[in-house]
Amino acid sequence: MTFQQVYGYEPTVQYSAPGRVNLIGEHTDYNDGYVLPFAIDRRTVASIGQREDRLIRVASAFEPDAVHELSLDELDPSRMQGWSAYVFGIAWALREQAGADLSDKTGFDVFIDSDVPVGAGLSSSAAIECGVALAFTDLWELGLDRKALARVGQYSENHAVGAPTGIMDQSASLLGEQDAVVFLDCRTLDTAVVDLALEANGLEVLVIDTRVEHAHATGGYKARRDSCERGAAAMGVEALRDLSVDDLPRAQELLDDETFRRVRHVVTEDQRVLDTVRTLREQGPRAIGDLLVASHASMRDDFEISVPELDLAVETAMAHGAVGARMTGGGFGGAAIALVDREARGAIADAVTSAFASAGYREPTVFTVHAAQGARRD
Ligand code: GLA
Repeated sequence: MTFQQVYGYEPTVQYSAPGRVNLIGEHTDYNDGYVLPFAIDRRTVASIGQREDRLIRVASAFEPDAVHELSLDELDPSRMQGWSAYVFGIAWALREQAGADLSDKTGFDVFIDSDVPVGAGLSSSAAIECGVALAFTDLWELGLDRKALARVGQYSENHAVGAPTGIMDQSASLLGEQDAVVFLDCRTLDTAVVDLALEANGLEVLVIDTRVEHAHATGGYKARRDSCERGAAAMGVEALRDLSVDDLPRAQELLDDETFRRVRHVVTEDQRVLDTVRTLREQGPRAIGDLLVASHASMRDDFEISVPELDLAVETAMAHGAVGARMTGGGFGGAAIALVDREARGAIADAVTSAFASAGYREPTVFTVHAAQGARRD
């Protein structure tokens, strides 16, 4: 399916935005903490034609027969169904969250295509949101910068899609740069681009998609978020970001065991992000392996968001010579990453695949990703 086949004319512009992998800094974003993601070389493309009326129409390659439509006069989350909320929600959030005046704007025909795997924890949804947000702000001449668009994307995800997620995914998709990670302070949205220098060091990042499906609109993700808020309130701080590892003994006295372990994950993970940034700058990517592995252990044992498939992926990659490995993204399924020597990639991928077969798990999908440029007009 193409834009032309759905709408009967050629699109006028095309925007694209990438998915992301998080190198380290998990479940820290909604705690006002630090994250270190990078945009990947898997993108969502939004082809767009301008309309003269107030309609937005949306179609996609992954749902070939459906065209969803909504008028700019009817923008409201209750009118947005399924994945089309990722597109309509952006128009709504531009108005609700960024205060854009859409009263004199005309609509669009939008066609979405993507090679970001869905459900793998690689932010296929943020890729749609960010490509569309950049397109709409450009074409409507709203003059919003990329950080403002990240907020718009998050607002839409939280209130139109209904997933209580943080700001990491949209920031990575909008601010990513080639061969670099985005060091983001989620409280201030201050960013620094940090060189990954993988190629120069003979390294690659492998994604191991366990194909165990996760959903953040329900269940565990929200429960973790609630625990963090409870922990912060009990410790008398605005967000867990305001605690350091020196506060952990006091937290242990004050909090119940489970809340304490949730807090300990976030507080130590923030520290690991800072340590990773410093290590990358001073020693390069070969030196960050222990930090990645410690991050995984913390998510497995303290935050309890890993699953056996993710643990097996990490253990097998490490046993076969990976420099570091950890689950990435929200957890409860999705993907792990492994930092590997380029020459070891094949052997590690094979080892993981056969370990999954022996354990009776679904065959994982294993592929290399490169740090790529963020959202753009193509
Ligand atoms: C999901 C969310 C992000 C972040 C991660 C965990 O990807 O969308 O905001 O919270 O989980 O780090």
